[in-house]
Amino acid sequence: MTSELLKGLNQHLTLEFRAAHEYLAMAIWLAEHDLPGFAKWMTQQSSDERMHAQRIIDHLVERDQKVKLPAVAAPPMDWKSAEALCTHVLKNEQDVTASINNLYAMAEKAKDRPATIMLQWFVNEQMEEEAAARAVLGRIRLAGNTGVGLLMIDQELAGGTMPGMPAEPADTAGN
Ligand SMILES: [Fe+2]
Ligand SMILES: [Fe+2]
Repeated sequence: MTSELLKGLNQHLTLEFRAAHEYLAMAIWLAEHDLPGFAKWMTQQSSDERMHAQRIIDHLVERDQKVKLPAVAAPPMDWKSAEALCTHVLKNEQDVTASINNLYAMAEKAKDRPATIMLQWFVNEQMEEEAAARAVLGRIRLAGNTGVGLLMIDQELAGGTMPGMPAEPADTAGN
């Protein structure tokens, strides 16, 4: 593996751990604000993010490359609204997508096939993650950020019946 790609993959771990930490903090805030469906969704997202970091770690360990675990900053614990929170989720996912695309290009340039294949999984995953965040945000904007509208979306999320969102945890296969 090129030193550039190794550095890039280690740096990417920061984004996955940051997302895991932030989504857990969001799940706590959502539970505190009587939105258990939203909280369930974010708890699942948080553990997905840790699993994403683990995938990269496993790849590096398997190839006898040095893993450097990053420090993770304390996440925000307060949000103006569920809409503000979901807007941040989408922004986060877009940042992760940009980093994955960058790593993919690096792996391709280096003709590193194992890394390219490993990153291909992330390319698909990010498409689903962005779609899910956009679906929730779209519902909030349609139904309203408070009261009955929000309750309705919360119930959809609790039951896993949100239209436009991948059915269950996107990554059930092979992790
Ligand atoms: Fe992720
Ligand atoms: Fe994600």
